[in-house]
Amino acid sequence: MARKIMIAGNWKMNGLLEDGVALAKGVAAEVKKMGKPECEFLVCPPFTLLTSVKKALRGAKVALGAQDCHFAEKGAHTGDISPVMLKDLGCQYVITGHSERRADHGESNELICKKSQAAYNAGLKVIICIGETLAERDAGKTIEVCTKQIMGSVPETATAANTVIAYEPVWAIGTGKTPTAQDVEEVHAAVRKVLAKKLGKGNANKMRILYGGSVKPANAKEFLALPDVDGALIGGASLKVEDFIAIAKNAGF
Ligand code: 13P
Repeated sequence: MARKIMIAGNWKMNGLLEDGVALAKGVAAEVKKMGKPECEFLVCPPFTLLTSVKKALRGAKVALGAQDCHFAEKGAHTGDISPVMLKDLGCQYVITGHSERRADHGESNELICKKSQAAYNAGLKVIICIGETLAERDAGKTIEVCTKQIMGSVPETATAANTVIAYEPVWAIGTGKTPTAQDVEEVHAAVRKVLAKKLGKGNANKMRILYGGSVKPANAKEFLALPDVDGALIGGASLKVEDFIAIAKNAGF
């Protein structure tokens, strides 16, 4: 089953106007040099940079995504951003359920599911994040936790066309620590089984499952070569043009 590899950068709460635009321009220039890249590139800057990054990416095969959204279309939700607004700005994707939002804002599977459905309704594709904490891993509960997160946070209406799953072990994010390739493959294969149960085999076989957590140019090839790994969601290394592009190149793209 051919699934197009996705190389996605999650800039998190990083970037002021000048350096954010420079980063986007740098990525755009490198991707243009590749001609027709075999993989799909995506950058997810903070809300404040979406418009200027979109301009900076003009003409390059790099999709634009946001890092979160509200579940309502509009209304009295001070400080929030709706999926309709993101679509209006030119976003194609939105990340939901990142572990930093689950932890910092107490987001539940139920809320993430509502946000994801609202994003589909607005015409956005969604990257739904799952992953276990170190305590859960040590207790041997990785698969159990990921299963529960998928069952609770992935809408029934999810398809391979509107959804990408990102497996990000919380303890591997920003730490330089990673699971072994074998561990990653085991979780991804289990995640695909759960997706098959929930959404049918057709969708599960076509749906991309990204790995995230300390992905660097040096380990990209190992992870991206795994049969059930269909790309990477990259934090720290997506903030440097050379590193972000090297992740794709080292993996053979
Ligand atoms: P790092 O690549 O910095 O570990 O972050 C991963 C991540 O959380 C991407 O969403």
